[in-house]
Amino acid sequence: MCGIVAFTGTADARSFLLAGLARLEYRGYDSAGIALVQPQAASQEAGSAGGTGAVLEVVRRKGKVASLVEAVEKSGVAGTCGIGHTRWATHGVPSEENAHPHCDCSGRIAVVHNGIIENYAHLKVELIEKGHVFASQTDTEVVAHLVEENYEAHAGDFTEAVRATVAQLSGSFALAILHANHPDTIIVTRNDSPLVIGSYEGGAIAASDTPALIDKTREISYIRDRDLAVLHSDGSIEFFDPAGEPFTPAIYHIEWSLEQAEKGGYPDFMLKEISEQPRVIRDTIANRFDRKTCALQFDELPLTDEELADIDRIYVVACGTSYHAGLIGKDLIENWARIPVEVDVASEFRYGNPIISTNTLVIAISQSGETADTLEAVRLARRAGAHVIALTNVMGSRITQEAQTVLNIKANIEIAVAATKSFLAQVALLTLLGLYLAQERLLLTGAQVREIYGEMKQLPGQIEQILSDTAAIEAAADACAEAQTALFIGRGVGATTCYEGALKLKEISYLHAEAFSAGEIKHGPIALIDPDAATPVVAVATQSSTRDKMLANIEEMKARGARIVAVATEGDERIRELADHVIYIPPTRECLSPITASVPLQLFARFIALARGCDVDQPRNLAKSVTVE
Ligand code: G6P
Repeated sequence: MCGIVAFTGTADARSFLLAGLARLEYRGYDSAGIALVQPQAASQEAGSAGGTGAVLEVVRRKGKVASLVEAVEKSGVAGTCGIGHTRWATHGVPSEENAHPHCDCSGRIAVVHNGIIENYAHLKVELIEKGHVFASQTDTEVVAHLVEENYEAHAGDFTEAVRATVAQLSGSFALAILHANHPDTIIVTRNDSPLVIGSYEGGAIAASDTPALIDKTREISYIRDRDLAVLHSDGSIEFFDPAGEPFTPAIYHIEWSLEQAEKGGYPDFMLKEISEQPRVIRDTIANRFDRKTCALQFDELPLTDEELADIDRIYVVACGTSYHAGLIGKDLIENWARIPVEVDVASEFRYGNPIISTNTLVIAISQSGETADTLEAVRLARRAGAHVIALTNVMGSRITQEAQTVLNIKANIEIAVAATKSFLAQVALLTLLGLYLAQERLLLTGAQVREIYGEMKQLPGQIEQILSDTAAIEAAADACAEAQTALFIGRGVGATTCYEGALKLKEISYLHAEAFSAGEIKHGPIALIDPDAATPVVAVATQSSTRDKMLANIEEMKARGARIVAVATEGDERIRELADHVIYIPPTRECLSPITASVPLQLFARFIALARGCDVDQPRNLAKSVTVE
């Protein structure tokens, strides 16, 4: 959803800005740009504007950051104070003129923005009436012109001009603003969009996300909505609340390192992240079971025994892959803890009329912790009196500040746009939460919980085994790569596993894929099976209480000419007779099978995407974190 970066210091800003943008490219990649303040004009690049003293140089390009890097090198622009942007278009087509930074009429003020200025249309009309001339179709450009107006109104006080501007904006925004009259200063602010801020011996820096800062500092701060941070080239930062009162923010330490944010020898982030899953599951489930008390521990959950016993309904709210993790969680929680669970996509929940009381538990799942719809769902649930648990990968993210309880999956930074390791970690943590609720409500004994937990500890080794030989997955993918459409079928948690498998495939390979409960397929979707095209049907048919029913469904598909790709449990020879391709995975109990069965589906999607020549890390039209509605 757009990435912004800002640097003011003693060193060259270009290298920080361009490297930072490359690391934020997962947020959007349809155009990119930078603006630098230079003591004197040094380039003929479009967008430069002179005057006395320092000037602003702007370089923008349609396409990925790599084309911007080329253009910046050619232009020869340089400077020690600058801002940058990588865009995921919302207002105005992806083009050079709509690429950020955007400038005011004088060309001395430049702005980069992540989010949507909701009242931009009205502001634009007013500004045009005052004589401002707009150069783009974006909502963002109004900010540059407003700062220009307010700068004059506040007699050249840059901070006051930005503060007044922020007060005029509604919507979501993270902004970094430069003024050539203040060549060492950048002002950043935010509202409902992420922004991290830090400093090091070479200067002060800010960005939409930590990967852009990590090689300079691992100590970062966040600001609240509409606060301002004024970054100075000596590395000092002044923080002001919306009333203009100075404050000192808390400092957070980033746990992961730069190496973890790089590919580390893998051809793409997606494969790296899939390969990290054994470690991720190990870390996510570690230290949850106390042998002495023979009980699972969830010390983060502040609910008393009584409050836990009183929970009469659970809502899970999430988007995309996190929503699919929630669907699996529903099955497990309902099975074990016997509490009704409703899973809603956050964008529906927030505009629906959910039945919430003080006995309602809301579990909001978000890898990034910044998804706009999920955050709004959290706010609604809290207003209605529910206890909200945030299940997230990013400590310090917005959701961790809004929910009462935070459960941290231990996936570490995930960069590929299509979520893999965070999904597995979410499912593992929801599994533990389901067991814990059942334990606390006395529906599972300590011994039963210990047995399942013991089996969970086998999962990392089982995933390693799947990853060690992917030949069958690759062969199945090769056979299906030219298909127009693919169906995924399963039953119970097998069906929910399929929803995520189908999403992975369509996200990264653009092959149309849909998942269905196997029992539903003859009520319509079976019409899609085209014998001439040998339509692929991916069947999750691992050992389960409904495995025989699955075999019958597979026979039905086979009889209609489908190409069957089955994910089955090792030792299941019967399935070999029915399926064109069998991908065997180690045996687990049914409730844990989504964790192992998802791994071959991730790899299947990746192999198909590669065979179709797609960029698996940065699929078209998508962004990793969706910070706008
Ligand atoms: C975007 C991403 C998806 C992700 C979804 C929810 O659509 O492309 O991969 O599942 O957002 O993100 P979250 O960070 O809230 O889990």
